[in-house]
Order: sequence, then C-alpha cells, then structure tokens
Amino acid sequence: MALESQRVESVSEDGKRSIKSFVLRGSRLAPYQKEALELYGEQFVIPFDDTRMLSFAEIFENDNPVIVEIGFGMGHTTERIATQMPFTNFLAIEVFLSGFTKLLSAVGRKSLTNLRLMRFDAVEVLEHMVAPSSVAGFHIFFPDPWPKKKHHKRRLIQEAFARLLMDKLVPGGYIYCVTDWEEYGQQMLDVFDSIEGLHNPYGTYAPSRSWRPTTGFEQKGLQKQHRIHEVWVEKNRG
Ligand SMILES: C[S@@+](CC[C@H](N)C(=O)[O-])C[C@H]1O[C@@H](n2cnc3c(N)ncnc32)[C@H](O)[C@@H]1O
Repeated sequence: MALESQRVESVSEDGKRSIKSFVLRGSRLAPYQKEALELYGEQFVIPFDDTRMLSFAEIFENDNPVIVEIGFGMGHTTERIATQMPFTNFLAIEVFLSGFTKLLSAVGRKSLTNLRLMRFDAVEVLEHMVAPSSVAGFHIFFPDPWPKKKHHKRRLIQEAFARLLMDKLVPGGYIYCVTDWEEYGQQMLDVFDSIEGLHNPYGTYAPSRSWRPTTGFEQKGLQKQHRIHEVWVEKNRG
C-alpha cells in the first residue's frame, strides 16, 4: 500500500457530514514530506479508523491529561506548547498536508513523545474515535472565519460541534478558542453560552494565556490591525 494512503488520511466530500469546515487543496507529497512520514509516521501519526476508540493511556503510555488541538496550521504553536508542557499529552489534528508534515518533522526530530498527530476531519475523529469525558482541554486557535454570510455554515464553532466538544471533555475541562474575527468571536461566546453544562468564568472574552505563543494566523491578523478575541469556557464539574 502506498505510504500516502497508509499514513495520510484524505477526506472525501461524500462522507456523512456534507458541509465541511475546510476545503482540501492538492495533496501530493513532496520528497521532504515523504521523508518525514517514513521516518516518523509510525511513531507519531495515528491513522483514522472509525471502528476503534483511542486509548490515550496506551498511546502515550501514561495517564497525563490530554489536550486536543484542532486545526494547528503549520504547527509552530503546537510544538512550542507541547515542549513547554511535557506532563501534558497533545493530540493535534489538521487536514492541511503541508502543515501536518511540517509538524510531524519537528516532532520527530525533537522526539516530542507527548504529541501525536492525525490528518483527518477533527469532527469525525471526535465523533468516532474519542471517548466521552476523556479530554482535558481543546485548543482551537484561529479557526477559519468563513467571513461571507453564505459560508457561515462552514464555521467550526456551531451548536452541534460545541455539544460534541462538551461531551468529550472531562468535568472541569476547558475549550480555548481564539479568533481575530470580531463577529466570529461573538458567535463563539453565544454558542458556548447556549450549551447546558458549559460555563464561561469570565462572562465575556478571556485574558490571553501567557503560555500561548502567537500563531501564524494571528500574526497575519495583527498585521491587519485586527483585535484578538480569546474565548475560554469550562465544563461544569457537577
Ligand atoms: C485559519 S487556519 C489556523 C491555523 C493555526 N491554528 C494558526 O492559528 O495559525 C485554520 C486551520 O484549521 C484547519 N481545519 C479546518 N477545519 C478542520 C477540521 N474539521 N479538522 C481539522 N482541521 C481543520 C484548516 O486546514 C486550517 O489549517
């Protein structure tokens, strides 16, 4: 079987969920990407398999809390946070091939054993492979804003997805979303507000976490003088 199909999952538009939060562009592997997969794929990449639930304890060989990052882009932030927090495990999910192989290469070279990657639609990964009450936190930094009104339905942060996140969180677990799109930030606040079982300890936008490095997309937003909006909500404990 070709390495690409073994290790790099592709997402078809004819799956169950017809409206996707992303558009896949050319997914041919360049030589350096093949090399990253050959060297590090076995150890750090988890293939999509909708017949099995992930056992984080088996994957990471410890019981440390697990953070799931959705849409890591080029992965610089992911790598830095995972390096800063060796006693936290990270499952980083992205569909964009170039960023995926970039992070894989960095993780492999640094032997970041607290991080695993998946290249698949995060919604399907959560639905089929992640057990309820098993995730300590979600990082969703600068999700695609889909600014045109006719594309708003593609936005990731919507009620059904927020419920899915809530279901996967451990009690006390958090969802941390950041955007430079004011009106999407308001949508995030409203959507999370509407979900029973979640609460926003700040009542509005949250302060920035000191451990969150500036992301690639954030940099672009800042260059355009966009304000950054941080949303932090938690799952109720009782
Ligand atoms: C605007 S970029 C932000 C990337 C990065 N977090 C940053 O701040 O630089 C959003 C990323 O989310 C990814 N993405 C969108 N929907 C996704 C999904 N359902 N599953 C996995 N990744 C997704 C896209 O491929 C894209 O790379």
